[in-house]
Amino acid sequence: MTATTTRAEIPERTLRTDRWWLPQLTTTAGLLVFIGYSTWRAFEGAHYYAAPYVSPFYSPCLAARCVPMRGGADWAVVGDWWRLSPALLVLVFPLGFRLTCYYYRKAYYRAFWASPPACAVGEQHARYTGETRFPLILQNLHRYFFYLAIPVAGILTYDAVLGFRNAAGQWGHAGLGTLVLLGNVALIWAYTLSCHSCRHIVGGRLRHFSRHPVRYRAWQLVGRLNARHMQLAWLSLASVGLADLYVYLVSSGVFADPKLF
Ligand code: FES
Repeated sequence: MTATTTRAEIPERTLRTDRWWLPQLTTTAGLLVFIGYSTWRAFEGAHYYAAPYVSPFYSPCLAARCVPMRGGADWAVVGDWWRLSPALLVLVFPLGFRLTCYYYRKAYYRAFWASPPACAVGEQHARYTGETRFPLILQNLHRYFFYLAIPVAGILTYDAVLGFRNAAGQWGHAGLGTLVLLGNVALIWAYTLSCHSCRHIVGGRLRHFSRHPVRYRAWQLVGRLNARHMQLAWLSLASVGLADLYVYLVSSGVFADPKLF
């Protein structure tokens, strides 16, 4: 067989006869829904706290103008000069993590750029430089966004635990919102730990697994999650949007948080 860098000389765009465009269509629709909703909520700058729940889009709330939470704007490190929505200060981290994620790259390259549209479907662009040039070379920052995603997940865990306090700050409360935040943070951790970079950090660069049994065990666990990375990417995207929506609806008075105990 002769190696070649050009496409086979066939007039058809593809010889595939299945509905190869269907996953791209559903991916595009799903991403557009999330982008539209999250953009509106990120810029709204309101209805992000319904005691004791804080929206994951606004946590940690870093601006001095954040609504008082838990007896004070406890994460406020940015002064009054910040006039935009506080969400914009924090969303850059999870956004960078997801934008550079290996799975999401595949999803949005296919969904929005059609580059490539699918396996064995002809590339429409005249040139293909992959991720070797600016700006796509910045995708290599993914590992660093992974490091930043860990404290973000930790803070969301803290928020979920505080969901066991009532609006007055006393422990021993749980409402539907507590379950919503717990479910969300569980999926956020599962997605974060299923990251390909995490798998490499945990188990990469080892010559002998037998000399590193703890890392080997951790690598196996991460590997099992990693095999579900796509599903976890979508589930955690949906859960973070639903958690925010829940806080929005309770905060804006659409319904009261049902108390469980
Ligand atoms: Fe998807 Fe790292 S590869 S989060």
